[in-house]
Amino acid sequence: MSLTKLTAAEAAELIPNNANVGFSGFTAGGSPKVVPSAIAARAEKLHADGQEYKINIFTGASTNEWADGALARANAQGIRTPYQNTPDLRKRINSHDCHYFDLHLSELAQKVRYKTYGDIDYAIIEVADYNDKGEVVLGLGVGNVPTFAMMAKHVILEHNHKLPKGLYGFHDIYIPMDPPQRREIPVYTPSDRIGSPVVKIDPAKIVGVVDSDSYDGIHGFTAPDDVTLQIGANVCGFLLGEYRAGRIPRSFLPLQSGVGNVANAVLYGLAENHEIPPVEMYTEVTQDAVIELMKMGRCHFASSCSLTISDAMEQEVLSNLEFFRDKMVLRPAEISNNPEVIRRLGIIAMNTALEADIFGNINSTHVVGTKMMNGIGGSGDFTRNGYISIFSCPSVTKGGVISNIVPMVSHVDHTEHSVDILITEQGVADLRGKDPVQRAHEIINNCANPMYRPLLNDYLKLGKGGQTPHTLAASLGFHTAFLETGSMANCDWSRYE
Ligand code: COA
Repeated sequence: MSLTKLTAAEAAELIPNNANVGFSGFTAGGSPKVVPSAIAARAEKLHADGQEYKINIFTGASTNEWADGALARANAQGIRTPYQNTPDLRKRINSHDCHYFDLHLSELAQKVRYKTYGDIDYAIIEVADYNDKGEVVLGLGVGNVPTFAMMAKHVILEHNHKLPKGLYGFHDIYIPMDPPQRREIPVYTPSDRIGSPVVKIDPAKIVGVVDSDSYDGIHGFTAPDDVTLQIGANVCGFLLGEYRAGRIPRSFLPLQSGVGNVANAVLYGLAENHEIPPVEMYTEVTQDAVIELMKMGRCHFASSCSLTISDAMEQEVLSNLEFFRDKMVLRPAEISNNPEVIRRLGIIAMNTALEADIFGNINSTHVVGTKMMNGIGGSGDFTRNGYISIFSCPSVTKGGVISNIVPMVSHVDHTEHSVDILITEQGVADLRGKDPVQRAHEIINNCANPMYRPLLNDYLKLGKGGQTPHTLAASLGFHTAFLETGSMANCDWSRYE
Protein backbone atom coordinates (compact mmCIF):
# COMPACT_ATOMS: atom_id res chain seq x y z
CA MET A 1 0.00 0.00 0.00
CA SER A 2 1.47 3.38 -0.85
CA LEU A 3 0.43 6.48 1.02
CA THR A 4 -1.77 9.04 -0.78
CA LYS A 5 -0.24 12.36 -1.80
CA LEU A 6 -2.31 15.47 -1.03
CA THR A 7 -1.90 19.17 -1.60
CA ALA A 8 -1.89 21.34 1.50
CA ALA A 9 -5.31 22.74 0.52
CA GLU A 10 -6.75 19.21 0.12
CA ALA A 11 -5.40 18.26 3.55
CA ALA A 12 -6.86 21.42 5.11
CA GLU A 13 -10.31 20.58 3.66
CA LEU A 14 -10.33 17.35 5.69
CA ILE A 15 -10.22 19.07 9.05
CA PRO A 16 -13.66 19.98 10.35
CA ASN A 17 -14.71 22.94 12.46
CA ASN A 18 -13.90 22.45 16.15
CA ALA A 19 -11.54 19.53 15.52
CA ASN A 20 -8.84 18.77 18.10
CA VAL A 21 -5.57 18.87 16.19
CA GLY A 22 -2.07 17.92 17.38
CA PHE A 23 0.90 19.56 15.65
CA SER A 24 4.39 18.09 15.57
CA GLY A 25 7.43 19.97 16.76
CA PHE A 26 8.62 21.94 19.72
CA THR A 27 9.19 25.67 19.10
CA ALA A 28 9.63 26.24 15.36
CA GLY A 29 11.83 23.15 15.29
CA GLY A 30 9.83 20.39 13.62
CA SER A 31 6.53 22.29 13.48
CA PRO A 32 4.37 21.78 10.39
CA LYS A 33 4.37 24.56 7.85
CA VAL A 34 2.21 24.22 4.77
CA VAL A 35 -0.91 22.50 6.14
CA PRO A 36 -1.46 25.00 9.01
CA SER A 37 -1.11 27.87 6.53
CA ALA A 38 -3.68 26.19 4.28
CA ILE A 39 -6.03 25.73 7.24
CA ALA A 40 -5.66 29.46 7.99
CA ALA A 41 -6.47 30.33 4.37
CA ARG A 42 -9.52 28.06 4.50
CA ALA A 43 -10.66 29.65 7.77
CA GLU A 44 -10.40 33.13 6.27
CA LYS A 45 -12.52 32.07 3.31
CA LEU A 46 -15.16 30.42 5.51
CA HIS A 47 -15.28 33.46 7.81
CA ALA A 48 -15.74 35.73 4.77
CA ASP A 49 -18.72 33.51 3.83
CA GLY A 50 -20.15 33.97 7.32
CA GLN A 51 -19.33 30.45 8.50
CA GLU A 52 -17.76 29.47 11.80
CA TYR A 53 -14.43 27.73 11.69
CA LYS A 54 -11.89 27.26 14.47
CA ILE A 55 -9.74 24.34 15.48
CA ASN A 56 -8.29 23.43 18.88
CA ILE A 57 -4.53 23.15 18.72
CA PHE A 58 -2.29 20.99 20.88
CA THR A 59 1.47 21.19 20.39
CA GLY A 60 4.79 20.48 22.07
CA ALA A 61 5.49 24.17 22.76
CA SER A 62 5.42 27.27 20.54
CA THR A 63 5.30 26.76 16.77
CA ASN A 64 6.08 29.17 13.92
CA GLU A 65 4.61 31.99 11.87
CA TRP A 66 3.11 29.51 9.32
CA ALA A 67 1.15 27.81 12.11
CA ASP A 68 0.36 29.97 15.16
CA GLY A 69 1.03 33.20 13.28
CA ALA A 70 -1.21 32.49 10.28
CA LEU A 71 -3.92 30.76 12.31
CA ALA A 72 -4.07 33.65 14.79
CA ARG A 73 -4.34 36.23 12.01
CA ALA A 74 -7.21 34.14 10.60
CA ASN A 75 -8.80 33.93 14.09
CA ALA A 76 -8.93 30.17 13.62
CA GLN A 77 -7.80 28.94 17.05
CA GLY A 78 -10.43 27.84 19.55
CA ILE A 79 -8.48 26.14 22.34
CA ARG A 80 -4.69 26.44 22.39
CA THR A 81 -2.20 24.76 24.72
CA PRO A 82 0.46 24.30 26.17
CA TYR A 83 2.69 27.25 25.06
CA GLN A 84 2.99 29.96 22.42
CA ASN A 85 5.17 32.97 21.71
CA THR A 86 3.69 34.55 18.58
CA PRO A 87 2.68 38.25 18.75
CA ASP A 88 -0.56 37.75 16.77
CA LEU A 89 -1.64 34.81 18.92
CA ARG A 90 -0.74 36.74 22.08
CA LYS A 91 -3.26 39.40 20.99
CA ARG A 92 -5.96 36.76 20.36
CA ILE A 93 -5.34 35.22 23.78
CA ASN A 94 -5.51 38.52 25.62
CA SER A 95 -8.73 39.48 23.81
CA HIS A 96 -10.28 36.02 24.51
CA ASP A 97 -10.62 35.17 20.81
CA CYS A 98 -8.51 32.13 21.62
CA HIS A 99 -8.97 30.08 24.79
CA TYR A 100 -5.39 29.43 25.82
CA PHE A 101 -4.49 27.43 28.86
CA ASP A 102 -0.96 27.49 30.11
CA LEU A 103 0.49 24.12 31.08
CA HIS A 104 3.77 22.59 32.20
CA LEU A 105 5.11 21.12 28.97
CA SER A 106 5.94 17.74 30.51
CA GLU A 107 2.28 17.18 31.37
CA LEU A 108 0.40 17.40 28.09
CA ALA A 109 1.20 13.97 26.63
CA GLN A 110 -0.18 12.01 29.56
CA LYS A 111 -3.29 14.18 29.70
CA VAL A 112 -3.86 13.54 26.00
CA ARG A 113 -3.51 9.79 26.56
CA TYR A 114 -6.13 9.99 29.32
CA LYS A 115 -8.35 12.05 26.94
CA THR A 116 -8.57 14.91 29.43
CA TYR A 117 -9.40 17.25 26.54
CA GLY A 118 -11.32 14.72 24.43
CA ASP A 119 -10.07 12.88 21.36
CA ILE A 120 -7.32 14.05 19.03
CA ASP A 121 -9.06 14.12 15.65
CA TYR A 122 -6.05 14.91 13.47
CA ALA A 123 -2.29 14.95 13.95
CA ILE A 124 -0.23 16.98 11.47
CA ILE A 125 3.34 15.75 11.61
CA GLU A 126 6.44 17.03 9.83
CA VAL A 127 8.71 14.19 8.73
CA ALA A 128 12.14 13.82 7.17
CA ASP A 129 11.31 10.35 5.88
CA TYR A 130 8.55 7.74 6.02
CA ASN A 131 7.63 4.34 4.68
CA ASP A 132 4.43 2.51 3.86
CA LYS A 133 4.55 0.66 7.17
CA GLY A 134 3.94 4.01 8.89
CA GLU A 135 7.45 4.34 10.31
CA VAL A 136 8.43 8.01 10.23
CA VAL A 137 11.66 9.89 10.92
CA LEU A 138 10.76 13.24 12.47
CA GLY A 139 12.17 16.68 11.73
CA LEU A 140 14.07 18.82 14.21
CA GLY A 141 11.51 18.76 17.02
CA VAL A 142 9.74 15.85 18.70
CA GLY A 143 7.31 17.59 21.07
CA ASN A 144 4.31 15.36 21.73
CA VAL A 145 4.32 13.54 18.38
CA PRO A 146 4.56 9.98 19.78
CA THR A 147 1.37 10.50 21.80
CA PHE A 148 -0.47 12.53 19.13
CA ALA A 149 0.35 9.86 16.53
CA MET A 150 -0.88 7.10 18.84
CA MET A 151 -4.10 8.86 19.88
CA ALA A 152 -5.13 10.67 16.68
CA LYS A 153 -7.96 9.25 14.62
CA HIS A 154 -6.28 10.54 11.44
CA VAL A 155 -2.74 11.59 10.60
CA ILE A 156 -1.44 13.95 7.91
CA LEU A 157 2.28 13.84 7.20
CA GLU A 158 4.17 16.89 5.97
CA HIS A 159 7.23 15.56 4.16
CA ASN A 160 9.80 18.36 4.32
CA HIS A 161 12.30 17.87 1.50
CA LYS A 162 14.84 20.15 3.21
CA LEU A 163 15.32 17.42 5.84
CA PRO A 164 17.74 14.63 4.87
CA LYS A 165 16.94 10.95 5.43
CA GLY A 166 20.18 10.88 7.44
CA LEU A 167 18.23 12.31 10.40
CA TYR A 168 17.40 8.65 11.09
CA GLY A 169 18.97 7.86 14.46
CA PHE A 170 18.83 11.37 15.96
CA HIS A 171 15.50 10.79 17.73
CA ASP A 172 14.79 8.60 20.74
CA ILE A 173 11.06 7.88 20.79
CA TYR A 174 9.73 6.53 24.08
CA ILE A 175 6.26 6.60 25.63
CA PRO A 176 6.17 5.71 29.33
CA MET A 177 3.46 3.47 30.71
CA ASP A 178 0.72 5.49 32.38
CA PRO A 179 0.00 5.32 36.11
CA PRO A 180 -0.43 3.02 37.93
CA GLN A 181 1.75 0.84 35.65
CA ARG A 182 4.56 3.39 35.19
CA ARG A 183 8.09 2.21 35.93
CA GLU A 184 11.21 4.34 36.20
CA ILE A 185 12.27 6.18 33.05
CA PRO A 186 15.70 4.63 32.44
CA VAL A 187 17.64 7.78 31.54
CA TYR A 188 20.68 7.84 33.84
CA THR A 189 22.91 10.15 31.79
CA PRO A 190 21.92 12.78 29.18
CA SER A 191 23.16 10.53 26.36
CA ASP A 192 21.18 7.38 27.31
CA ARG A 193 18.91 6.13 24.53
CA ILE A 194 15.84 4.28 25.68
CA GLY A 195 13.50 4.11 22.69
CA SER A 196 13.14 3.87 18.93
CA PRO A 197 14.62 6.08 16.19
CA VAL A 198 11.22 6.23 14.46
CA VAL A 199 7.62 6.96 15.39
CA LYS A 200 5.39 4.05 14.38
CA ILE A 201 1.97 5.10 13.11
CA ASP A 202 -0.83 2.78 12.05
CA PRO A 203 -0.67 3.32 8.24
CA ALA A 204 -4.47 2.97 8.04
CA LYS A 205 -4.72 6.27 9.95
CA ILE A 206 -2.45 8.20 7.57
CA VAL A 207 -4.86 10.02 5.28
CA GLY A 208 -2.17 11.61 3.14
CA VAL A 209 1.29 13.02 2.68
CA VAL A 210 1.82 16.70 1.80
CA ASP A 211 5.15 17.92 0.43
CA SER A 212 6.92 20.91 1.93
CA ASP A 213 10.33 22.49 1.43
CA SER A 214 11.40 25.03 4.08
CA TYR A 215 13.86 25.40 6.91
CA ASP A 216 12.27 26.12 10.29
CA GLY A 217 12.28 29.90 9.76
CA ILE A 218 14.25 30.86 12.87
CA HIS A 219 16.27 34.10 12.78
CA GLY A 220 19.69 34.37 14.41
CA PHE A 221 19.86 36.19 17.73
CA THR A 222 20.69 39.90 17.83
CA ALA A 223 23.96 40.90 19.46
CA PRO A 224 23.51 41.01 23.26
CA ASP A 225 23.50 44.40 25.00
CA ASP A 226 25.66 45.31 28.01
CA VAL A 227 22.95 44.39 30.54
CA THR A 228 22.54 40.92 29.03
CA LEU A 229 26.29 40.37 28.95
CA GLN A 230 26.57 41.41 32.61
CA ILE A 231 23.74 39.03 33.62
CA GLY A 232 25.53 36.24 31.74
CA ALA A 233 28.81 37.09 33.48
CA ASN A 234 27.06 37.08 36.88
CA VAL A 235 25.53 33.64 36.22
CA CYS A 236 28.92 32.26 35.16
CA GLY A 237 30.60 33.82 38.19
CA PHE A 238 28.03 32.22 40.48
CA LEU A 239 28.42 28.77 38.91
CA LEU A 240 32.19 29.00 39.07
CA GLY A 241 31.95 29.86 42.78
CA GLU A 242 29.72 26.84 43.38
CA TYR A 243 32.13 24.63 41.46
CA ARG A 244 35.16 25.87 43.39
CA ALA A 245 33.29 25.40 46.68
CA GLY A 246 32.56 21.77 45.77
CA ARG A 247 28.79 22.23 45.65
CA ILE A 248 28.92 21.20 41.99
CA PRO A 249 30.87 17.96 41.39
CA ARG A 250 34.22 17.97 39.52
CA SER A 251 32.57 16.50 36.41
CA PHE A 252 30.03 19.38 36.56
CA LEU A 253 26.25 18.85 36.16
CA PRO A 254 24.01 18.93 33.07
CA LEU A 255 22.60 22.33 32.17
CA GLN A 256 19.14 23.45 31.19
CA SER A 257 18.79 26.89 29.76
CA GLY A 258 15.95 28.86 28.26
CA VAL A 259 16.23 30.31 24.79
CA GLY A 260 17.68 33.77 24.23
CA ASN A 261 20.58 36.08 24.69
CA VAL A 262 21.12 35.53 28.41
CA ALA A 263 21.32 31.77 27.81
CA ASN A 264 23.77 32.36 24.96
CA ALA A 265 25.94 34.66 27.10
CA VAL A 266 26.01 32.08 29.92
CA LEU A 267 26.89 29.20 27.60
CA TYR A 268 29.70 31.12 25.91
CA GLY A 269 30.93 32.31 29.33
CA LEU A 270 31.11 28.75 30.64
CA ALA A 271 32.79 27.56 27.46
CA GLU A 272 35.49 30.20 27.72
CA ASN A 273 36.35 29.18 31.27
CA HIS A 274 38.58 26.14 30.96
CA GLU A 275 38.52 25.53 34.70
CA ILE A 276 35.07 24.04 33.99
CA PRO A 277 35.08 20.78 32.01
CA PRO A 278 33.12 20.54 28.72
CA VAL A 279 29.43 20.73 29.55
CA GLU A 280 26.46 18.46 28.87
CA MET A 281 22.94 19.74 28.30
CA TYR A 282 19.70 18.10 29.42
CA THR A 283 17.30 20.75 28.25
CA GLU A 284 14.26 21.54 26.11
CA VAL A 285 15.90 23.23 23.19
CA THR A 286 19.33 23.03 21.66
CA GLN A 287 20.11 26.48 20.28
CA ASP A 288 22.87 27.99 18.16
CA ALA A 289 25.25 28.54 21.09
CA VAL A 290 25.22 24.83 21.97
CA ILE A 291 26.12 23.90 18.40
CA GLU A 292 29.00 26.38 18.52
CA LEU A 293 30.19 24.84 21.79
CA MET A 294 30.11 21.38 20.22
CA LYS A 295 32.30 22.62 17.38
CA MET A 296 34.72 24.10 19.97
CA GLY A 297 34.79 20.79 21.88
CA ARG A 298 33.25 22.54 24.91
CA CYS A 299 29.91 20.69 24.88
CA HIS A 300 30.05 16.89 24.82
CA PHE A 301 26.38 16.12 24.45
CA ALA A 302 22.95 17.75 24.26
CA SER A 303 19.70 15.97 25.04
CA SER A 304 16.71 18.11 24.09
CA CYS A 305 13.26 18.07 22.56
CA SER A 306 14.19 20.17 19.54
CA LEU A 307 16.91 21.87 17.61
CA THR A 308 15.79 25.50 17.79
CA ILE A 309 18.50 26.88 15.57
CA SER A 310 18.69 29.68 13.03
CA ASP A 311 18.18 28.77 9.39
CA ALA A 312 21.89 29.32 8.70
CA MET A 313 22.84 26.94 11.52
CA GLU A 314 20.18 24.45 10.40
CA GLN A 315 21.78 24.27 6.96
CA GLU A 316 25.18 23.74 8.55
CA VAL A 317 23.96 20.97 10.89
CA LEU A 318 21.99 19.19 8.18
CA SER A 319 25.04 19.16 5.90
CA ASN A 320 27.31 17.76 8.65
CA LEU A 321 25.06 15.21 10.32
CA GLU A 322 27.88 12.72 10.95
CA PHE A 323 29.77 15.23 13.12
CA PHE A 324 26.69 15.72 15.32
CA ARG A 325 25.34 12.14 15.38
CA ASP A 326 27.05 11.10 18.64
CA LYS A 327 26.62 14.51 20.26
CA MET A 328 22.86 14.93 20.46
CA VAL A 329 19.51 13.20 20.89
CA LEU A 330 15.98 14.53 20.35
CA ARG A 331 13.39 13.25 22.84
CA PRO A 332 9.63 13.64 23.41
CA ALA A 333 8.70 16.58 25.67
CA GLU A 334 7.54 14.31 28.47
CA ILE A 335 11.07 12.84 28.62
CA SER A 336 13.18 15.96 27.90
CA ASN A 337 11.21 17.76 30.63
CA ASN A 338 10.56 14.81 32.89
CA PRO A 339 10.64 15.73 36.60
CA GLU A 340 11.93 12.27 37.59
CA VAL A 341 14.87 12.48 35.18
CA ILE A 342 15.60 16.15 35.96
CA ARG A 343 15.78 15.35 39.68
CA ARG A 344 17.92 12.25 39.07
CA LEU A 345 20.46 13.98 36.82
CA GLY A 346 20.85 17.02 39.10
CA ILE A 347 20.14 19.63 36.46
CA ILE A 348 21.30 23.23 36.83
CA ALA A 349 18.15 25.06 35.68
CA MET A 350 18.49 28.58 34.26
CA ASN A 351 15.34 30.46 33.30
CA THR A 352 14.17 34.02 32.79
CA ALA A 353 11.67 36.00 34.84
CA LEU A 354 9.48 38.91 33.88
CA GLU A 355 9.50 40.00 37.51
CA ALA A 356 10.59 38.66 40.89
CA ASP A 357 9.44 39.74 44.31
CA ILE A 358 11.62 40.51 47.28
CA PHE A 359 10.67 37.18 48.89
CA GLY A 360 11.73 35.10 45.87
CA ASN A 361 8.49 34.39 43.99
CA ILE A 362 8.66 34.60 40.20
CA ASN A 363 6.29 35.82 37.49
CA SER A 364 7.34 34.44 34.10
CA THR A 365 4.12 34.88 32.19
CA HIS A 366 1.82 37.82 32.95
CA VAL A 367 2.64 41.45 32.19
CA VAL A 368 1.38 43.55 35.13
CA GLY A 369 -0.53 40.48 36.31
CA THR A 370 -3.05 40.44 33.46
CA LYS A 371 -1.66 40.10 29.92
CA MET A 372 -0.24 36.74 28.89
CA MET A 373 3.22 37.08 27.41
CA ASN A 374 4.13 33.52 26.30
CA GLY A 375 3.46 30.90 28.94
CA ILE A 376 5.23 28.93 31.63
CA GLY A 377 6.77 26.57 29.08
CA GLY A 378 9.21 24.13 30.61
CA SER A 379 10.45 26.57 33.23
CA GLY A 380 8.31 24.92 35.94
CA ASP A 381 9.35 21.39 34.98
CA PHE A 382 13.01 22.32 35.43
CA THR A 383 12.79 24.88 38.24
CA ARG A 384 10.82 22.71 40.64
CA ASN A 385 13.07 19.71 40.09
CA GLY A 386 16.50 21.16 39.34
CA TYR A 387 19.50 20.72 41.67
CA ILE A 388 20.10 24.48 41.51
CA SER A 389 17.32 26.68 40.11
CA ILE A 390 18.39 30.09 38.85
CA PHE A 391 16.23 32.93 37.56
CA SER A 392 17.61 35.97 35.84
CA CYS A 393 16.20 39.22 34.46
CA PRO A 394 17.33 42.82 34.07
CA SER A 395 16.71 44.88 37.24
CA VAL A 396 14.51 47.35 35.31
CA THR A 397 12.72 47.43 31.98
CA LYS A 398 11.19 50.06 29.67
CA GLY A 399 13.92 52.58 30.48
CA GLY A 400 13.47 52.23 34.24
CA VAL A 401 9.74 52.94 34.62
CA ILE A 402 9.27 49.26 35.55
CA SER A 403 11.29 47.62 38.31
CA ASN A 404 11.53 43.89 37.73
CA ILE A 405 12.05 43.50 41.47
CA VAL A 406 8.73 44.26 43.17
CA PRO A 407 7.23 43.90 46.66
CA MET A 408 4.83 41.16 45.49
CA VAL A 409 4.69 39.57 42.05
CA SER A 410 1.49 40.34 40.17
CA HIS A 411 1.18 36.68 39.10
CA VAL A 412 2.96 33.64 40.53
CA ASP A 413 4.51 30.97 38.32
CA HIS A 414 7.34 29.76 40.55
CA THR A 415 7.10 30.03 44.30
CA GLU A 416 9.86 30.96 46.74
CA HIS A 417 10.23 27.23 47.53
CA SER A 418 11.59 26.43 44.09
CA VAL A 419 13.85 29.41 43.48
CA ASP A 420 17.45 29.14 44.73
CA ILE A 421 19.21 32.02 43.02
CA LEU A 422 18.11 35.33 41.51
CA ILE A 423 20.45 37.21 39.21
CA THR A 424 20.27 40.62 37.55
CA GLU A 425 22.96 42.81 36.02
CA GLN A 426 23.34 44.28 39.52
CA GLY A 427 24.44 41.02 41.10
CA VAL A 428 23.48 37.65 42.60
CA ALA A 429 21.01 36.92 45.41
CA ASP A 430 21.57 33.52 46.98
CA LEU A 431 18.23 32.66 48.58
CA ARG A 432 19.19 29.24 49.89
CA GLY A 433 18.87 28.73 53.64
CA LYS A 434 17.44 32.20 54.25
CA ASP A 435 14.13 33.19 55.82
CA PRO A 436 11.82 35.62 53.96
CA VAL A 437 13.22 38.82 55.52
CA GLN A 438 16.81 37.69 54.93
CA ARG A 439 15.88 36.89 51.33
CA ALA A 440 14.31 40.33 50.93
CA HIS A 441 17.53 42.07 52.07
CA GLU A 442 19.62 39.83 49.78
CA ILE A 443 17.43 40.60 46.76
CA ILE A 444 17.09 44.34 47.42
CA ASN A 445 20.81 44.83 48.09
CA ASN A 446 22.15 42.58 45.32
CA CYS A 447 19.56 42.52 42.52
CA ALA A 448 17.27 45.57 42.65
CA ASN A 449 18.24 48.62 40.64
CA PRO A 450 19.72 51.31 42.96
CA MET A 451 16.92 53.72 41.97
CA TYR A 452 14.33 51.30 43.44
CA ARG A 453 16.22 50.13 46.56
CA PRO A 454 14.94 52.91 48.91
CA LEU A 455 11.31 52.27 47.88
CA LEU A 456 11.71 48.51 48.41
CA ASN A 457 13.37 48.98 51.81
CA ASP A 458 10.58 51.37 52.81
CA TYR A 459 8.02 48.74 51.80
CA LEU A 460 9.67 46.27 54.16
CA LYS A 461 9.46 48.86 56.97
CA LEU A 462 5.70 49.30 56.34
CA GLY A 463 5.11 45.67 57.41
CA LYS A 464 3.59 45.10 60.82
CA GLY A 465 5.17 41.68 61.39
CA GLY A 466 4.64 38.07 60.47
CA GLN A 467 7.25 35.79 58.91
CA THR A 468 6.66 37.37 55.50
CA PRO A 469 5.97 41.00 56.43
CA HIS A 470 3.66 42.05 53.63
CA THR A 471 1.30 44.99 53.85
CA LEU A 472 -1.41 43.50 51.66
CA ALA A 473 -3.09 46.76 50.63
CA ALA A 474 0.30 48.13 49.50
CA SER A 475 1.82 44.95 48.09
CA LEU A 476 0.90 45.80 44.49
CA GLY A 477 1.75 49.48 45.01
CA PHE A 478 4.51 49.40 42.37
CA HIS A 479 2.09 48.05 39.74
CA THR A 480 -0.64 50.48 40.78
CA ALA A 481 1.78 53.41 40.47
CA PHE A 482 2.85 52.21 37.02
CA LEU A 483 -0.76 51.89 35.83
CA GLU A 484 -1.78 55.26 37.29
CA THR A 485 1.29 57.36 36.52
CA GLY A 486 3.40 55.44 34.00
CA SER A 487 6.24 54.72 36.42
CA MET A 488 6.73 52.46 39.41
CA ALA A 489 9.16 55.05 40.72
CA ASN A 490 6.15 57.24 41.59
CA CYS A 491 4.93 54.72 44.16
CA ASP A 492 4.06 56.57 47.38
CA TRP A 493 3.76 54.34 50.43
CA SER A 494 2.19 57.10 52.53
CA ARG A 495 -1.18 56.43 50.88
CA TYR A 496 -1.14 52.96 52.47
CA GLU A 497 -0.04 53.94 55.99
N1 COA B 1 6.66 44.12 33.41
C1 COA B 1 6.18 44.45 32.19
N2 COA B 1 6.81 44.17 31.03
C2 COA B 1 7.99 43.54 31.12
C3 COA B 1 8.55 43.17 32.34
C4 COA B 1 7.84 43.49 33.53
N3 COA B 1 8.32 43.18 34.73
N4 COA B 1 9.72 42.55 32.12
C5 COA B 1 9.90 42.52 30.79
N5 COA B 1 8.86 43.11 30.20
C6 COA B 1 8.67 43.30 28.76
C7 COA B 1 9.94 43.79 28.07
O1 COA B 1 10.03 45.20 28.13
C8 COA B 1 9.72 43.27 26.67
O2 COA B 1 8.77 44.09 26.05
P1 COA B 1 8.82 44.41 24.47
O3 COA B 1 8.49 43.11 23.81
O4 COA B 1 7.77 45.46 24.30
O5 COA B 1 10.22 44.89 24.21
C9 COA B 1 9.06 41.92 26.91
O6 COA B 1 8.46 42.01 28.21
C10 COA B 1 10.04 40.75 26.89
O7 COA B 1 11.08 41.05 27.76
P2 COA B 1 12.59 40.63 27.47
O8 COA B 1 13.46 41.29 28.51
O9 COA B 1 12.91 40.87 26.04
O10 COA B 1 12.51 39.14 27.85
P3 COA B 1 12.94 37.77 27.21
O11 COA B 1 12.87 37.78 25.73
O12 COA B 1 14.18 37.40 27.88
O13 COA B 1 11.74 36.86 27.74
C11 COA B 1 10.22 35.87 29.26
C12 COA B 1 11.43 36.81 29.09
C13 COA B 1 9.97 35.71 30.74
C14 COA B 1 9.00 36.50 28.59
C15 COA B 1 10.57 34.51 28.56
O14 COA B 1 11.76 34.01 29.08
C16 COA B 1 9.48 33.48 28.76
O15 COA B 1 8.49 33.47 28.06
N6 COA B 1 9.62 32.61 29.78
C17 COA B 1 8.66 31.59 30.09
C18 COA B 1 8.94 30.31 29.39
C19 COA B 1 10.23 29.70 29.81
O16 COA B 1 10.86 30.12 30.78
N7 COA B 1 10.67 28.68 29.15
C20 COA B 1 11.85 28.01 29.61
C21 COA B 1 12.57 27.18 28.81
S1 COA B 1 12.75 27.66 27.09
